[in-house]
Amino acid sequence: SQDTQIAGKLLDWYDANARRLPWRSPPGETAPDPYRVWLSEVMLQQTTTAAVAPYFTKFTTRWPTVTDLAAADDADVMAAWAGLGYYARARNLLACARAVAAMGGSFPDTEDALRTLPGLGAYTAAAVAAIAFERRAVVVDANVERVVARLFAIKQPLPAARPAIRTAADSITPDSRAGDFAQAMMDLGATICTARSPRCMLCPLRADCRAYAQGAPERLPVKAAK
Ligand code: ADE
Repeated sequence: SQDTQIAGKLLDWYDANARRLPWRSPPGETAPDPYRVWLSEVMLQQTTTAAVAPYFTKFTTRWPTVTDLAAADDADVMAAWAGLGYYARARNLLACARAVAAMGGSFPDTEDALRTLPGLGAYTAAAVAAIAFERRAVVVDANVERVVARLFAIKQPLPAARPAIRTAADSITPDSRAGDFAQAMMDLGATICTARSPRCMLCPLRADCRAYAQGAPERLPVKAAK
């Protein structure tokens, strides 16, 4: 059983407030290209949207398809990646592009099949399945973790709280528009439900938020002492 009412409010908010990021197709237009979705999600692991945007444009201009990227020289890709950091991601990027090219140039369209590709962990496989293929997948990154911990007032510290956060995220994930829902949660976390001073007065989910009702949403999620 799902709380479709929360998803509905969030999707209405997203329709009016989605960030215009270069890897998103404009609202109401053609489904996003799986290559562009995958490339952006790999680049966005540990890197902010502002830092990723120029790299995303550079890569997609130079290598417009996954087959083009698969045929690139390793050194050219590593040089183009320079500045993004976490260079293992660039090596996996090429390995993945070559695996997809070897499969005929089309990305697999389910979360389980995506998970078998080089560099696609649970998060990236779920994100690509939802955003590129409209599959219902539970997409949880650090922003989503914070939003969900607050909505449900989950007070157990991270990382122990992860299974409870996942279950709660699953309970509000809609059957349709899964990709928009995932990106709406990310945008809400990045722009409204921020870590230190959430802007609850602007939040479309304020009335549903247990942490807001309890008075101190900025205290969640709790992190285990190191
Ligand atoms: N962070 C990771 N993936 C993202 C996306 N698709 N949109 C915005 N922020 C993100």
